Amino acid sequence: MTELRPLDLEPADRLLVLTGAGISVESGLRTFRGADGLWEGEPVEAVATPEGFDADPDRVWRFYSRLRGVVAGAEPNAAHAALAGCEAKLGDNFLLITQNVDGLHQRAGSRRVYELHGSLWRTRCARCDRAPFQDRSEPATTPECERCGGRLRPDIVWFGEAVDVEADYRTKQFIAAARRAEARLVFLAVGTSGAVWPASGFARLAAAFGARTWLANLDPADNDADFDHLVRGPATRTLPVLLG
Ligand code: OAD
Repeated sequence: MTELRPLDLEPADRLLVLTGAGISVESGLRTFRGADGLWEGEPVEAVATPEGFDADPDRVWRFYSRLRGVVAGAEPNAAHAALAGCEAKLGDNFLLITQNVDGLHQRAGSRRVYELHGSLWRTRCARCDRAPFQDRSEPATTPECERCGGRLRPDIVWFGEAVDVEADYRTKQFIAAARRAEARLVFLAVGTSGAVWPASGFARLAAAFGARTWLANLDPADNDADFDHLVRGPATRTLPVLLG
């Protein structure tokens, strides 16, 4: 365990941040791997797999419609704000990759942010290649694609599906660019259990390219061993200090 202290980043340093569900807990949102094994009251395989969607698309839509309502009523917290503040100082030397679909980082002011697991606020067709579109509606039944008549679905990456290609690419490009520039690279993961690939592998990847690695989490994560520094505590307490 490392004592809680500022990372002391210089303007020329590069900071790559990975966030997970834990950073939004203090905004009132639930994590995925809580004690009850449910996500906001539903079994994950029913609402976060393509098979669950095929079996009962209306159930899946009712779930995400309710979640849209819950998240719309939540506010970004001090941890989201600390990351936005750090980006304002580091500019292009900062990159945020999130596994969250809630959009709270953007609402806190983060701009250099990529969503590895998609967004609750986009919808796409499950059948045709029409581009995903912004959508804040809360349908009670499955909407139809106006172009092909197929089923629309949330533009969220479910279990067994590929992560967002651009988010994955930007992560690797940022890591490689830091080494090319011979800049000091710091990797910081926040509020993530290290249970889901490929995000769970980013710490090792960054370390292989010379990064110092930090994990700020409430509980031990599956990949604790991959980090140089472990900081325990709620993100609203740890991030303002680490990034202060
Ligand atoms: P998890 O629910 O697996 O883990 C959340 C982590 O946050 C846990 O390790 C908690 O200890 C920690 N935590 C809880 N409250 C915290 C707080 N206030 N401050 C800091 N840490 C806190 O969530 P993820 O790792 O994000 O994917 O899960 C990864 C992916 O699995 C999700 O993106 C989701 C899920 O399936 C998809 O939706 C595709």
